[in-house]
Amino acid sequence: MNFRKLNPLYILFFFSLFSCQEEEEKAAFEDREIAFNSDWQFHLNESGNDSISENAEWRTLHLPHDWSIEGKFSQEHPAGTGGGALPGGMGWYKKSFTLEESDSTKVTSVMFDGVYHNSEVWINGNYLGNRPNGYMGFQYELTPYLNYGEVENELLVKVDNSEQPNSRWYSGSGIYRNVWLISTNKLHVAKWGTFVTTPEVSKDSATVNIETTIANKYPEAKNAVIRTIILRNGTEVTSASEEFSIDKDREHKIQQTATVDQPELWSVENPGLYTAVTEIELDGEIVDRYETPFGIRSFEFDLEEGFILNGEQIKIKGVCLHHDLGPLGTAINTRAIERQLEIMQEMGVNGIRTAHNPPAPELLELCDKMGFIVQDESFDIWEQGKTEHDYSNYWDEWYERDHTDMLLRDRNHPSIFMWSIGNEIPEQWSERGAEIGRELAKITRKIDSTRPVTAAMNPPVHTSDDDVTLQFDEPQQPNALAGSGALDIIGYNYAHQTYPKHQVNFPNTPFIATETTSALATRGYYEFPSDTIKIWPVRWDIPFDGGNPDNTISAFDQVRTPWGSTHEETWKIIKKHDFLSGFYIWTGFDYLGEPTPYTWPSRSSYFGIVDLAGFPKDSYYMYKSEWTDEDVLHILPHWNWEEGQTVDVWAYYNNADEVELFVNGESKGIKRKEGDDLHVMWRFPYEAGTLKAVSRKDGATVLEKVVKTAGEPAVLILKVDRESIKADGQDLSFITVTITDEDGTLAPRANNLVQFELNGGGKIVGVASGDPTNHESFKGTKHSALNGKVLVIVQSGKNAGAVELTATSEGLESASTTITFE
Ligand code: GAL
Repeated sequence: MNFRKLNPLYILFFFSLFSCQEEEEKAAFEDREIAFNSDWQFHLNESGNDSISENAEWRTLHLPHDWSIEGKFSQEHPAGTGGGALPGGMGWYKKSFTLEESDSTKVTSVMFDGVYHNSEVWINGNYLGNRPNGYMGFQYELTPYLNYGEVENELLVKVDNSEQPNSRWYSGSGIYRNVWLISTNKLHVAKWGTFVTTPEVSKDSATVNIETTIANKYPEAKNAVIRTIILRNGTEVTSASEEFSIDKDREHKIQQTATVDQPELWSVENPGLYTAVTEIELDGEIVDRYETPFGIRSFEFDLEEGFILNGEQIKIKGVCLHHDLGPLGTAINTRAIERQLEIMQEMGVNGIRTAHNPPAPELLELCDKMGFIVQDESFDIWEQGKTEHDYSNYWDEWYERDHTDMLLRDRNHPSIFMWSIGNEIPEQWSERGAEIGRELAKITRKIDSTRPVTAAMNPPVHTSDDDVTLQFDEPQQPNALAGSGALDIIGYNYAHQTYPKHQVNFPNTPFIATETTSALATRGYYEFPSDTIKIWPVRWDIPFDGGNPDNTISAFDQVRTPWGSTHEETWKIIKKHDFLSGFYIWTGFDYLGEPTPYTWPSRSSYFGIVDLAGFPKDSYYMYKSEWTDEDVLHILPHWNWEEGQTVDVWAYYNNADEVELFVNGESKGIKRKEGDDLHVMWRFPYEAGTLKAVSRKDGATVLEKVVKTAGEPAVLILKVDRESIKADGQDLSFITVTITDEDGTLAPRANNLVQFELNGGGKIVGVASGDPTNHESFKGTKHSALNGKVLVIVQSGKNAGAVELTATSEGLESASTTITFE
C-alpha cells in the first residue's frame, strides 16, 4: 500500500485495526471497509430444520461460499434439473471477532453483497433483519450491539434455501458474494450515498454533477466541509468544496458541480475511468473519505441510428450471462468473472445483460474497466410466479426496496446503459402488468433519470402461436407493458422475424433485442444433415424445424429452438438495419440448470456459445470472424468419420476473399461467401487423412488451418492460462487438458477420466468438461473429458513459490506443469 497517499488519520485507523483480520484484509482499510470473508464457521442442515442443535458440527471456511455446488447431482433434489439437480437446504454461518477499544467511537456496519436466499442475521444474539432476495446486497448497522476490547462478538447468519424450486436456473446457496465490515466516523457518506452524473459531455469539456448524501449520527448538529476531488489515474483534475450544516441523526443531500476539461471519454475500446473522492472535514480533520469510480460518456438510443456512444453509432453485440461460474458454482471469484469476460471480449462481444438479476458488484467493476455495455436487470418475476417458491411470494413486501437498492447500488457504473425492470414477466399481457411497469419505471426515473428503462418482453406485440413468422405491414397491437408508456426502449426476447418491422409497431420508441437465439449445441459433437437433429447424448432425439430451405439442418449450424433461431439467423437481421441498436444472445456461457429441451440426466444448459468449462463451441468463431479485426479461419468438424460417409465441412473466415479446402492435398474447391453468408461449406465423401483450409486475400495466403484424422487417445497435454498468479489465496489458474493421439492431434471423441494431483501448495477448486450430462463432482480431483478436453482450476495459496500439477489417465501418457504463486 502507498502510505504517502493516505491522510495520517487513515494510517491511525490502519494500525488500530480489527484484531481478528488477516494481513490482506487490513490492507484494504484505507478504503474504509475491510473484506470480512475469512474464518467463518458453517453448518448445513439439509433437511431444512429451523434450529441448530448444540452438537451441530461446524466447519471452517472462507467466503464467498456456495454449498450446493459441493453436493451430489440427483434428480430427486427438489430444485429439479432446471435448478441444476443439486441440493438446497438450510445453512448457518457464524463468525467471531474482536474490536479495539478505540473503535467504539465509530459507526460499524456489515455489508453482504448477496446471500441466496432468505437470509436472517444476528449480532451477539440481537436480530438485525431478513432479506428474501438472493441477489441484492444489504447492510446492517452493528454499532449498538458491539463489544470492544477483549470480549468477542459473534455474527450469525441463517440462509434458507430449503423451499424449492424457487428458481428457473441454478441459484447456488449460501453467502456466495463478498462480505464487508464498514467502519466510519459518525459523520460520513451514507450507504451508496454518491451519485455522479455527466449531463453535458463534449470532447472539450464535461460537466460533472455530484450528489452526496451525508449521514450524521452524532447527538448534535454539525458544521463541516465536503470536498469532492476528481482524479484521473490518481492525479487530481478538478475539485469542488463547500461548507454545510447537518442536524443530529439526519441524512442530508449536497449537490456539487465540477468541470473536466478535455475529458477522456469512456468507450468500449478505451474505457477510461475517473474517481470522485469525497472527503468530509470536521473540525479541521478529514473524518471520512469515500471513492466513487465513474466514467464520462454521452449516449442515446436513436429511432433511426440505434445506439450512439459519444456521438458514434455502434452495434451492441451482447450476451446474456447467468451468475454461476460453472464448476465454481455461484461463489464469486473476481478472476473467474474476468476470465469469462476476457473470453467474451476475444470473440468481439461488447455487451453483457445480467440475466435476470442484479449481478455481483465485481462483474460491474470489471465491465467498467474492460468496456462492456451492460443491461442491468432487477427481476425475472413480479407478482405472478414461475416456480412454486420463487420471488412472487415476497413481491408485495419487497419489490420497491429491491428495485430501489439495485438502482442506488449500481447507478455510478459507466458500463450500465439501461435498466431492465423484468424478464418475460407473465403480467406483460395484462393491465396489471402495465400498472406495475409504470410504477417500476417511476421508481427508476426518480432515482436515475439518465438511463432508459426497458423490459425483456416475449414479444412486445400480440401474436398467436400459429403466427410465428410475424410478417405484417400494418401495426400490430403492442402487449400491455409495451403499450403502457413505462418503457423508453422496447425490449424483445426472440421473435427475430419481427425486428425489421419494429418501426411499424413502435414509431416513437427505440429497439433493443434483450434476448435472442437460444441455439443449442454441445462442444465437439456433430451430426450430418437429417430431419432429426441429435445433440449429446444421442439417445434424446428431438425433431426441430431447421429453417433451411430443404428442411434439414446441418448440426454445425446448431439446433434451433422453436422460439429462437440459429446464431446466423438473428445476427444477419441485427447486422442489416441501423435502427436495431443491438442484441444480447442467450447465452455467452453455458450455465448450471435449465438443460432445455432435456431433463435428467442433463443438469446444465446447451445454449452457451462457450461451454461450462470455458471452451468455445464452433459458433464462437462465426461471431469472432464478424466482430473482430483479428484474422479468423475456423473449420469444422473434426476429421474422424466413417470412410465414404457424406460429410459437410464448414469454414468461418474473415479478412479474406476466399477459402480453398484440400483433403490429402487434393483441392475440394474454392468457396466465397456471397450476399449475407456467414460461412462457406463443402459436402463430399469422407476420406481419412488431412483436411487443410487456406484463406486468401488478393491471391496471398491469410491463414492456413489443418485438421487431421486422430489415432487412438494416447497423450495428455496441459495448457495453463496464466503460469504465474498472485499468492493471495484467491487468484486462479485455469488449466486445459487436451487428449491427443501419439502425434499430438486432438482425439475428438476421447472421454477418458483424468486424475489430478497438486503438490507444493494451493488447491484444486474445480474440474469440468462442458458435458451437460456428467454427474461427477465439480469439486473433486478427477473428471472425465468431453470430446478431448477437460479443465482443472487451481487456486493459489498465501505462500509464494512454485507448485506442480500432474494429470494422469489410465493408458495415457501423463503430463505435469508448474504454476508459480507470486
Ligand atoms: C427465455 C428466458 C431465459 C431462458 C431462455 C431459454 O425465454 O428468458 O431465462 O429460459 O428462454 O431459451
